[in-house]
Amino acid sequence: MNQAFNPTDLSGKKILITGAAGGIGAASARLCSAHGAEVALVDISGEDAIRAAVGDLSGPASFHACDTSKRDEVIELARSTGPVYGLVDCAAICPPDDWMDDSWDAALDRTIEVNIKGPANLTRAYFPMMAEQGEGRIILFGSVAGWMGGLRSGPHYAFTKGGIHAFTRWLAQRGASSNVLVNAIAPGPIDTPMISGRGYEAEAYPLKRLAAPEEVGAFVLLLCAPGGAFASGAIFDVNGATHLR
Ligand SMILES: NC(=O)c1ccc[n+]([C@@H]2O[C@H](COP(=O)([O-])OP(=O)(O)OC[C@H]3O[C@@H](n4cnc5c(N)ncnc54)[C@H](O)[C@@H]3O)[C@@H](O)[C@H]2O)c1
Repeated sequence: MNQAFNPTDLSGKKILITGAAGGIGAASARLCSAHGAEVALVDISGEDAIRAAVGDLSGPASFHACDTSKRDEVIELARSTGPVYGLVDCAAICPPDDWMDDSWDAALDRTIEVNIKGPANLTRAYFPMMAEQGEGRIILFGSVAGWMGGLRSGPHYAFTKGGIHAFTRWLAQRGASSNVLVNAIAPGPIDTPMISGRGYEAEAYPLKRLAAPEEVGAFVLLLCAPGGAFASGAIFDVNGATHLR
């Protein structure tokens, strides 16, 4: 191994991060930027919300309002950013709806649109460009819910996160011959707006705390960087021992 091997160096790499106005997306943006990446930051809530969430960045950044569940908006996004080295898809929703309630069908539809069609739209737009350039990294977001049903989430969320775990493996098989590496991260309870105020009690978990978003962003960084160069088709549990498989 080259003595100069730097496992977290992203100099010269362009990394697109969705859900960048949220907890894990913003933390991932800060870490990738601090390690040399140019970042393209995407969120349905738009530029001001992304800027407010990420704060000051050390390198170049662009900001994009996009609903990733809409195929036409994602195609337009890809036109505007051009090819990227890394695609980190943090955008998702986890509505609290009761599956026995009549209103649940709408919550199910929207959760599938955002959590399943969003990643499908993004990978359909960016994967071919990565395959063409002969390199790329795709990091999707599953969840502990995708393995064991979740700590407090509803079945609509668990459906979609289990689907992401399966899709990660499907896409990793297709990317390998073009050096496009595809992995997912399956977090446990992370202290972000997604779970804030929803009864996630730190004392209930093995480490007696929630994780900081940076503790997930660090895995994003590594999976985008030279240190992640032989990982593909894996789902990395970052769950503080809330589920052992
Ligand atoms: N926080 C946790 O405990 C936890 C646990 C397991 C998995 N996850 C997963 O980690 C990822 C990041 O979660 P987080 O905790 O940072 O959530 P978050 O709610 O803090 O951020 C999600 C972001 O996605 C954006 N978003 C929602 N719908 C969108 C759409 N259609 N298009 C574009 N952007 C959209 C939101 O505006 C928000 O900024 C998600 O995939 C989530 O399911 C989180």
